[in-house]
Amino acid sequence: MAKTPDGKNTSGRGQRDLTVKVKTARGRTSSSTRWLQRQLNDPYVKRAQIEGYRGRAAFKIMELDDKFRFLVPGARVLDLGCAPGGWCQVAVPRVNALGEKQGKAIGRIVGVDLQEVEPIMGCEIHQLDFMSDDADQQVKAWLGGKADVVMSDMAASSSGHKQTDHLRIIALCEAAAYLAFDVLEVGGTFVSKVLAGGAEGELQKLLKQRFEKVANVKPPASRADSSEKFVVATGFRG
Ligand SMILES: C[S@@+](CC[C@H](N)C(=O)[O-])C[C@H]1O[C@@H](n2cnc3c(N)ncnc32)[C@H](O)[C@@H]1O
Repeated sequence: MAKTPDGKNTSGRGQRDLTVKVKTARGRTSSSTRWLQRQLNDPYVKRAQIEGYRGRAAFKIMELDDKFRFLVPGARVLDLGCAPGGWCQVAVPRVNALGEKQGKAIGRIVGVDLQEVEPIMGCEIHQLDFMSDDADQQVKAWLGGKADVVMSDMAASSSGHKQTDHLRIIALCEAAAYLAFDVLEVGGTFVSKVLAGGAEGELQKLLKQRFEKVANVKPPASRADSSEKFVVATGFRG
């Protein structure tokens, strides 16, 4: 029987593809009914449950890494905005953080989030507001040296105002990029969530100066109706 990332057996639950209809209920708004219906019918949500990932976001980093191959054995990874831990779960076997791939280099993963994260074997996780004063000094101390990959899925909770959400996410992405400039090894990779919407031009310009290649990608696991996309910058020039 196949194993989940936490070493449990998969049960095959949810393999019949039945569409779930959610009835409106007293006390539930129509937008939360829509959200619930979407969650219950989302194939990535089902896959995450079956395969033991903490969230559907795991499949986004899987798809990005399958394309760009940055999570390699021995890689030192900084995962910003890591809660509840899906990206970390994907990174553990790929970078060989537990040393299970005999003869391959052993990687390291440092995760940071505002929220508390249940421990994940092979990851060192810290609770921190990355936008607080001196956060980058703190993260650098935890890293204790260079990183090969800085990845950020940080997103502030939605304000309901598209432009405000966009500016907030760009601020998080810029802060992650500046830390990446400081800690990345030459040749390293920076991956970050952004929202399409106009203010990311400056960031793209900056990344193009510091990396050999900058790609903007919408992985299949990213919902088609969301303006979310990912920037993948490879070949850090130092
Ligand atoms: C979409 S979730 C990340 C999902 C994660 N990649 C996974 O696979 O489980 C975005 C995360 O960014 C975190 N976040 C937002 N602002 C942050 C900040 N200023 N510092 C640290 N984490 C932050 C949130 O707490 C949230 O857990």
